[in-house]
Amino acid sequence: MGERDAAKRVFFHTLGCQMNDYDTGKMRALLAADGYASTDDPELADLIVVNTCSIREKAVEKMHSVLGEYRRAKRSRPLTLGVAGCVAQERGEQLMAKYPDIDLMFGPDGVPHVRELVREAVAGKRVLDIDLLDLENYPFVSEVDPAQSGVGAFVTIQKGCDNACTFCIVPQTRGVEVSRPWEQILEEVRTVVARGARDITLIGQNVNSYGLKLGGGVTFAQLLYKVAEVPGVTHIRYTTSHPRDMGDDVVQAYRDLPQLASHLHLPVQSGSNRVLRRMKRFYTRERYLEVVAALRAARPGMVFTTDVIVGFPGETDDDFEQTMNLLHEVGFIGTFSFKYSPRPGTPALKLEMRDPVSDAVAGARLTRYQDAQRALSLAWHRALEGSTVPVLVHGWSAHDPEVVMGRTSDFAAINFPGDASLFGRTLPVTITRGFTHSARGEASR
Ligand code: 5AD
Ligand code: SF4
Repeated sequence: MGERDAAKRVFFHTLGCQMNDYDTGKMRALLAADGYASTDDPELADLIVVNTCSIREKAVEKMHSVLGEYRRAKRSRPLTLGVAGCVAQERGEQLMAKYPDIDLMFGPDGVPHVRELVREAVAGKRVLDIDLLDLENYPFVSEVDPAQSGVGAFVTIQKGCDNACTFCIVPQTRGVEVSRPWEQILEEVRTVVARGARDITLIGQNVNSYGLKLGGGVTFAQLLYKVAEVPGVTHIRYTTSHPRDMGDDVVQAYRDLPQLASHLHLPVQSGSNRVLRRMKRFYTRERYLEVVAALRAARPGMVFTTDVIVGFPGETDDDFEQTMNLLHEVGFIGTFSFKYSPRPGTPALKLEMRDPVSDAVAGARLTRYQDAQRALSLAWHRALEGSTVPVLVHGWSAHDPEVVMGRTSDFAAINFPGDASLFGRTLPVTITRGFTHSARGEASR
């Protein structure tokens, strides 16, 4: 066969959150139907799609440097260059004007019709699609990422976000909240389980409000019970939760469902009520602690990770001390902590103009927070030393050959000598040494 019949190849460069990873997987699945094989080597690609993130300015800067690389590649060979995701949604028109060699630009709502968009671009048209889709009948993609084969799998349950946290750009980029019908969710869970998945993470911007508005058909708690009924599901996790919406029915599920992981990622953002009010988070520090206590009563030993922003406009030393103090009070085992980054079009920008926190102060706070978090994470992994815990094996460890990595229900990463026959199995492992981000052990016999 001639050169022209060779398979077309697509390379994805994905920045940002697990929602973007998931969207990339859906695009991979959809484009496969048009004959695109996915490649790990951008130099072999006929089509490159950069899936972008706009959550903080750093992510946008990263996009510009990544795009520079592919735009240079395009000068020496035929290549279709696309930009997808949150930056495309937020400033697609500007980017098209700035970079005339970009062929295709679309936001997260463009993912379901990526095939048409790519076809138009390959036919020579410059394509800009940043329309947000209608709420009714939002076309959740049912095709599953052909590259999905691991023990861990993400399944989307919702798109968009109806909150209005004053620092956050996501409501602008991912549009309004729509829940995915539960039957479709279960079908996807069954498909990934058939391919070997055991540790299922249900994802959405605000999963606790699943089903309350459009779509879904059941509540979030009811959905958890349904997922737990799928044979082969060992662990169920979900992200992201909003502390305000954590209902008693979800707490009850922790009593009833052993599959529900004993770890929850519950973003708090700040330990100060004054800052929480200015962020429009609609809960207090006290309410947050009540949710933590209720979950720990339902599931003894439950652990928490969180997101924290330091240097939000107007944050005083005293506000920050309250965040430090909450870190210790909850005993978070991990935090994604960030300096506040002003985002275009967000309400906090006005506060930022009146009441900014200097970069030096924010930086010092971030360092202090992260040092304290590291010490807590280390202490938690060390406390496991000598105990024997059930570990679900996910795959090879990142660094050592002949060492596998598995996760406990509370999400500790455990490395121990083993082989591929263990993937997907749960077995008791005795912990020999705890580190900051993982622990080491030996399979017990
Ligand atoms: N600046 C810094 N961090 C932010 N996040 C969201 N918006 C911003 C911003 N403007 C953080 C929040 C959120 C996580 C996904 O990113 O902590 O929970
Ligand atoms: Fe994900 Fe938010 Fe970044 Fe979009 S802006 S990729 S939703 S983290």
